[in-house]
Amino acid sequence: MDILVIGGGGREHAIIKKLKQSPLCGKIYALPGNGGIAEDAVCVPIAATDIAGIKAFASENHVDFAAVIPDDPLAMGLTDELRAMGIPCFGPSKAAAIIESSKAFSKELMKRYGIPTAPFETFSDYDEAVKHLENHSLPVVIKADGLALGKGVIIANTLDEAKAAVKNMMLDGAFGHSGDRVVIEDFLVGPEISLLVFTDGKSAALMPASMDHKRIGDGDTGKNTGGMGAVAPNPYFTDEVRAETTENIIIPTLEAMKKEGRTFKGCLYFGLMLTKNGVKVIEYNCRFGDPETQAVLPLMESDLLETMLAVEEERLCKAEVRFSDKFSCCLVLASGGYPEKYEKGKEIIFDNFPGNIEVFHAGTRQENGKMLTNGGRVLGLNAVRDTLREAVAACYEAAEHVSFENKYMRNDIGKLALEAID
Ligand code: AMP
Ligand code: GLY
Repeated sequence: MDILVIGGGGREHAIIKKLKQSPLCGKIYALPGNGGIAEDAVCVPIAATDIAGIKAFASENHVDFAAVIPDDPLAMGLTDELRAMGIPCFGPSKAAAIIESSKAFSKELMKRYGIPTAPFETFSDYDEAVKHLENHSLPVVIKADGLALGKGVIIANTLDEAKAAVKNMMLDGAFGHSGDRVVIEDFLVGPEISLLVFTDGKSAALMPASMDHKRIGDGDTGKNTGGMGAVAPNPYFTDEVRAETTENIIIPTLEAMKKEGRTFKGCLYFGLMLTKNGVKVIEYNCRFGDPETQAVLPLMESDLLETMLAVEEERLCKAEVRFSDKFSCCLVLASGGYPEKYEKGKEIIFDNFPGNIEVFHAGTRQENGKMLTNGGRVLGLNAVRDTLREAVAACYEAAEHVSFENKYMRNDIGKLALEAID
């Protein structure tokens, strides 16, 4: 089968490497891909949001299947358009992708169906939002309704900060129309769990839970990023937590979406927090997480393409979805300055790089036979080992063998998980 993979980050690289292991897999086209993906797929310079361009390419090249990975094309309805052309897809419809593209929708869904989440109110009126803040406990969490590149969540410690965030979103248009509506919610405390679930709308296959490291600085300090590293499995996701999550969150969410006429097919990402009052949903994403995917998929032992086909054909309950019980770490190497201003075009040198480490390219491009940096998050290094300590150590050891100007990484990926195990 010839496959189209939409996207061009580390997550897409991990997906493509796994798809390639399938005996069913023919040619893979990555739109747009990146410098490293070019080693594993045919990269075509069509943006993930260029719906017309993607459709034209898919039809000219007679692709058999498409995996739509990033949030934007999913929110824009690319899977609906491809399916209408007769191309089966992995990824939710536009109607189902709203679970990520509107936080107001997902919060109201949870309220309507009794799915545990932080108490909240939604506002389209600036003055009412400010009035609400004046009586709210601190810290308070303010979320832009729409997609905002992972930057639309502000945790305000003071009333002034909270008001500034609401003004920034609602009046100053910091996130365009994504900030026309805001969700104001209670601040919750507890370890976070990222859970990726394959679902065909009827049944669910859980991948090993993982732990992301969202802040730029060691000890979870500084600005939020797309994610600086991840480990799997997440030690907080015990059998007990898994049972509670399945019963109170996963099954009710799939049923709620079905009842709303928005059956979800694809990878549903549950951002969970283990509070002292039980597991709560912090957010849903309608797609694989990044960098969680780069930690989780290397543990997959069964065939990813088979699973994606089973999801699309709504026969997931009969499919074999199997993961190893080893431990996995993904360490992100970033450009200094990220998530704010950073430079691109720095040459990446691998020197004596260990053979038993997988490299997923995120922001890279090739030029004249050289690999250059081309984004904030540049590479993800992945190790799968018998223990988490070994997996983490192997990533840090390998990081010594990659260099580029202003290379930056966190030094404590996996630390919290290791402390939880010890
Ligand atoms: P989100 O984009 O909704 O995942 O939010 C980004 C990050 O903000 C989450 O991973 C949490 O660390 C944090 N966060 C979001 N909502 C809350 C909340 N209600 N209480 C505490 N932290 C939160
Ligand atoms: N790592 C968080 C996300 O993919 O949204």
